[in-house]
Amino acid sequence: MSDADQALIEEQIRYYRNRAPEYDEWFNRQGRHDHGPVHTHLWRQEINEVRDALDALGPTGRMLELACGTGLWTCQLARYDGVLTAVDASREVLLRNRARVRSDAVRYVQRDIFRWEPDEIYDFIFFGFWLSHVPPSRFDAFWERLRQVVAPGGTVFLVDNRDCRESSTRNRPLDGDRMTERRVLNDGRTFEIVKVFWDAARLNRRLEPLGWRGDFRVSEHFFVYGTASRAR
Ligand SMILES: C[S@@+](CC[C@H](N)C(=O)[O-])C[C@H]1O[C@@H](n2cnc3c(N)ncnc32)[C@H](O)[C@@H]1O
Repeated sequence: MSDADQALIEEQIRYYRNRAPEYDEWFNRQGRHDHGPVHTHLWRQEINEVRDALDALGPTGRMLELACGTGLWTCQLARYDGVLTAVDASREVLLRNRARVRSDAVRYVQRDIFRWEPDEIYDFIFFGFWLSHVPPSRFDAFWERLRQVVAPGGTVFLVDNRDCRESSTRNRPLDGDRMTERRVLNDGRTFEIVKVFWDAARLNRRLEPLGWRGDFRVSEHFFVYGTASRAR
């Protein structure tokens, strides 16, 4: 991996540490993320579509959540019958996650995912709004690591943003280069992060030669989501 990508990964971690107190505003469509009541209604509907798809899979057993953040999905995963390992690089988001989820069935691990050496295998692996932050140079290695830690017959479920201007922040500058974005916090501080938008068909195709069978789809406006399982 290039030094530039390593620097981006580190800046991305710093960004989310600093964004922790305001992260949920994005998910809840508040403040700079408020695009009006119609938009908020559609957003919630599509989030519920993804939540229902996750419920329908009925995850159980040993579960792993990567980049768990403030717990917006951890709280759903913690309700399933099993034990959950939740990984994130940011102490600040993990504190919020713990306070939100309050479950003895969740084990928290504070680690950079690109340096993490898992010590278990998992029946179910979830990550929300994380794949788009994996630099292209680390994509294959990331999925190879998942192949090593997913149990035979196990499932990966992910959700991420479709490339839609309104799924992001109102004052986010957009440039022609879609690999990185300059993100702005409420107080005006800026950070450069990785942002790679995936569409369902491209992700299915991209995973196939890596030994995964992808079954991804899109919600009407905002999200790409679905499962990947080992093809061999
Ligand atoms: C877009 S947020 C998603 C949070 C959560 N999954 C959700 O959907 O609400 C990305 C998360 O990735 C975490 N993160 C960023 N870089 C990371 C890294 N290299 N290793 C582990 N976590 C990282 C951030 O701290 C942040 O919580």
